[in-house]
Amino acid sequence: MEAVITTDRRPTPEMIEEAKRLAEKFNITYVKRRHRTIESIKKEFGKNVLVVGKDLNLTLHTLSGKKLFFHPGLFKIRLLNYIATGHEAMIEAMDLKEGETVLDCNLGLAQDALLAAFVSKREVSGIEKDPVIYEIVRRGLERYKPEGKLKVAEFAPLLIKPINADNYEFLKNQPDKSFDVVYFSPMFIKPKWHCDVMAPFREVAVKDFVSLETLKEAERVARKRVVIKVNKGVKELFPYLSDYNLQPSSTNVEYLYKIL
Ligand SMILES: C[S@@+](CC[C@H](N)C(=O)[O-])C[C@H]1O[C@@H](n2cnc3c(N)ncnc32)[C@H](O)[C@@H]1O
Repeated sequence: MEAVITTDRRPTPEMIEEAKRLAEKFNITYVKRRHRTIESIKKEFGKNVLVVGKDLNLTLHTLSGKKLFFHPGLFKIRLLNYIATGHEAMIEAMDLKEGETVLDCNLGLAQDALLAAFVSKREVSGIEKDPVIYEIVRRGLERYKPEGKLKVAEFAPLLIKPINADNYEFLKNQPDKSFDVVYFSPMFIKPKWHCDVMAPFREVAVKDFVSLETLKEAERVARKRVVIKVNKGVKELFPYLSDYNLQPSSTNVEYLYKIL
């Protein structure tokens, strides 16, 4: 992802220090904020602008004017539905039980990983290829404390172990049958509907679909199931998904799974 980094308008010395440290880590330009607007920085550099703010949280301002920051999105509603009904499509496709381990190969905002951690009560390893998204989500998870009705899930963020890597490269180095479930949720292919939560993602995230090579590695590494979240109609586009089962769904999202 192409970006430059700056701070809030009134930065503390700690924020400036952190912005400079991240500039070096990501090999991107540090821009002194002074009285400049985010818009003027975007215009000058023609790149997304990553901002170090309060509590050293990160917000990415995308070129088209959207903001990407950590928030648990649909996790909240999915968790409450799961608690109320005992059913959730992803959990059923995974056949996930307490004590089982999950490797989430597309961490993104960690909404799926949070739900998996809530159910398994075990560490969920979450792989994210984009270093900026990884950093936004890693520190977001460190600070996220589910409250109110969601307090029952306050342990879940602590169980997620974010890993900045390409999922294929990571899988290649794992022993056979080392996770109970290996899970993919690549960016949807040409979605027909608009989703506000995913709009900033669509602009900046890595858009790779799961390749046959990656899937073969996942089937070697998973002990129980490999699960892929897709939008409706995608299964037919990839002949190598023909031996995957389809979890029926009334929404635009479908889960494909293979029992190993
Ligand atoms: C649709 S989002 C995942 C949403 C996520 N499951 C959630 O619950 O918020 C897909 C994510 O996978 C990442 N990604 C794409 N290709 C990848 C790869 N080869 N390895 C690791 N991460 C990848 C993207 O950068 C993006 O953040």
